[in-house]
Amino acid sequence: MKTLQVELEGRSYPIYIGESIYCNLSLLKDFIQSKQVLILTNELLADLYLDALVKQLSEYQVASCILPDGEQFKNLTILNQIFDVLLSERFSRNATLIALGGGVIGDMGGFAAACYQRGISFIQIPTTLLAQVDSSVGGKTGVNHALGKNMIGAFYQPKCVLIDTKVLATLEDRQFSAGLAEVIKYGLIRDLEFFEWLEGNMDALMARNPDVLAEAIERSCKNKAEVVNADEFESGVRATLNLGHTFGHAIETGMGYGKYLHGEAVAIGCCQAADLSYRLGYLTDRDVERIERLLVRANLPITPPKELDAERFIELMAVDKKNIDGDIRLILLKKIGEALLPMPVARSLLEQTLNNYGRN
Ligand code: NAD
Ligand code: GLY
Repeated sequence: MKTLQVELEGRSYPIYIGESIYCNLSLLKDFIQSKQVLILTNELLADLYLDALVKQLSEYQVASCILPDGEQFKNLTILNQIFDVLLSERFSRNATLIALGGGVIGDMGGFAAACYQRGISFIQIPTTLLAQVDSSVGGKTGVNHALGKNMIGAFYQPKCVLIDTKVLATLEDRQFSAGLAEVIKYGLIRDLEFFEWLEGNMDALMARNPDVLAEAIERSCKNKAEVVNADEFESGVRATLNLGHTFGHAIETGMGYGKYLHGEAVAIGCCQAADLSYRLGYLTDRDVERIERLLVRANLPITPPKELDAERFIELMAVDKKNIDGDIRLILLKKIGEALLPMPVARSLLEQTLNNYGRN
């Protein structure tokens, strides 16, 4: 087992990465403060993984909250179901919430934990590749609004993150690929060596070679932890983790939550951001092709949905947490392996990308 550390003074926590560790009580018990434990999961994961975890926690007063499965349920209405269970079970402030699931469950569980009685402990047990390499680390929690993705939420750090690579065995290929979009993102924004390693190991990664997969997860978490350590509340460099996300969130919101997976939308957004970086003279056309090639090898889409024209994209991109005073600000690439901080871009240039990239 490997251990990484998120270093945030009083809010520091470990990330454990290993095989068959998701219900390891000796790891979990240090982070459970009282007898009361709520396990938050969804209908699909409850069938697969809930019983084993409940069994391990037999010395605690365990309640479960099983949400419907899907991005379309990541909203304030469904969030209330978590509070319903916490309150009906009379859970107090020293209770612990365990989020057992992908990014949707992790984001909702973290937000519920931040809000319930103004904050209870929570533990992340991420079960998708995307959640293991990105969403479970760093404390961004929240829900979607019909008008904008992740627009309601809080920064709230977990007490620990338990990454079990074995649970990925049941993950569908499409979901696995979606996770790779965020893995590739780290190479693009800050780690050229990792990007090159991914180019060399993508076939093994797609075949889910256990050693290659574990290394990809560990290197991703290390990148994420370093960025979060430097800028927990996103006043600077953390925004670079949003490469491709302004375009991607527009696709998710505009097409209806759940139509495009988050990672798929991010992959397309990374290509649009690369195209814009090329138009601004930062990347070469060969760089853009290189990025596209790696994403395609990960079985990810790279062209935007034809249903969204430039005008609609811009309308949707106007709802984004990086925007200031109504100006759209984007993360672009200076080169492969180095992102620029959020910057406004001339509307005409943005329209060129939106009208031309992937539109033939
Ligand atoms: P998800 O949580 O919807 O999970 C994807 C699907 O995989 C679901 O159907 C789920 O039930 C299923 N699943 C999960 N684990 C499985 C397993 N082990 N075996 C079989 N099926 C399994 O989606 P996701 O891609 O994990 O997360 C996307 C969400 O994460 C988005 O809402 C996005 O906004 C958010 N996100 C948050 C952050 C952050 O920093 N907080 C970062 C990136 C993404
Ligand atoms: N996923 C972006 C962030 O955590 O900042």
